[in-house]
Amino acid sequence: MTFLDKNFPIESPDTVLLFEELSLWSSYFGKILLDHVPLRKDMAVLDVGCGAGFPLYELANRLDATCQLTGLDPWEAGVERAKWKLAHHQLLPKVEVLLGDAAKLPFPDKQFDLITCNLGINNFDDPAAVVKECYRTMKRDGRLCLTTNVEGHFREFYSVYETVLKELGMEELLPTLKASEQRRGTDETVRDLLEDARFNVVKIIRDKFTLRYLNGSAFFHHFLTVIGFLPGFRSIVPKREEERVFSLLEKRLNEQADWDGELKMTVPMLYVEAVR
Ligand SMILES: C[S@@+](CC[C@H](N)C(=O)[O-])C[C@H]1O[C@@H](n2cnc3c(N)ncnc32)[C@H](O)[C@@H]1O
Repeated sequence: MTFLDKNFPIESPDTVLLFEELSLWSSYFGKILLDHVPLRKDMAVLDVGCGAGFPLYELANRLDATCQLTGLDPWEAGVERAKWKLAHHQLLPKVEVLLGDAAKLPFPDKQFDLITCNLGINNFDDPAAVVKECYRTMKRDGRLCLTTNVEGHFREFYSVYETVLKELGMEELLPTLKASEQRRGTDETVRDLLEDARFNVVKIIRDKFTLRYLNGSAFFHHFLTVIGFLPGFRSIVPKREEERVFSLLEKRLNEQADWDGELKMTVPMLYVEAVR
């Protein structure tokens, strides 16, 4: 089976179990968030895009019985899993998990002291609508604390992808590739997103990490690549060209790994804190 044949149905309970393996990916971002997020008594907290329960439960475990937390996500299998965890965590704060779209939050105005969002904004169909809703439902002086991966993400991969498209005479696809690479935004675009919703950005922390793979084959077969990134990589080329493009990409990445001793992917990330 090649990585192009792999399929992880997003609504399958088994995929959710595997999704928990993403905690290593989520944890790089979650660590900065948990290092900086304000922890106080009497907080009402909302975690938007809580997935299967991160950082919702980690935060709940770090707070006390004076706090209340809500997690919200439209991913049914994720929310189901998060609810299962709720039944098993024996937490002190009151916690609830809701199925929903953060672009239409089911809460009255000025409810929350803290809204967290780990790795959400690149996944929302309408991030501006979500940020606006966060502003509406946040108390005065409340904080929005988010993390995200930004432009430069997997730059090593995109550079080889560009070379491969040129090698195959598919230069007409280069603007699509560029647009896909740049859709993750920058410090400035994330700041603008928050300021456009009238938030006051008070802290930005930049960091980066490197994911290491044996070679391109390992990179393409990795669960995280298949579930999180391959659909975006595939959307660059017409279906009829997929085999040709991806077999050459795999070959070129493998050659590079042979040359360098391993394959490295850089992931630049941001922690942003904003006040209402
Ligand atoms: C990369 S995952 C991050 C999940 C979790 N916060 C973590 O750190 O592991 C992005 C999450 O955003 C959720 N999401 C996508 N669109 C959303 C929306 N409109 N409102 C709320 N969550 C959304 C997805 O279902 C997914 O669970």
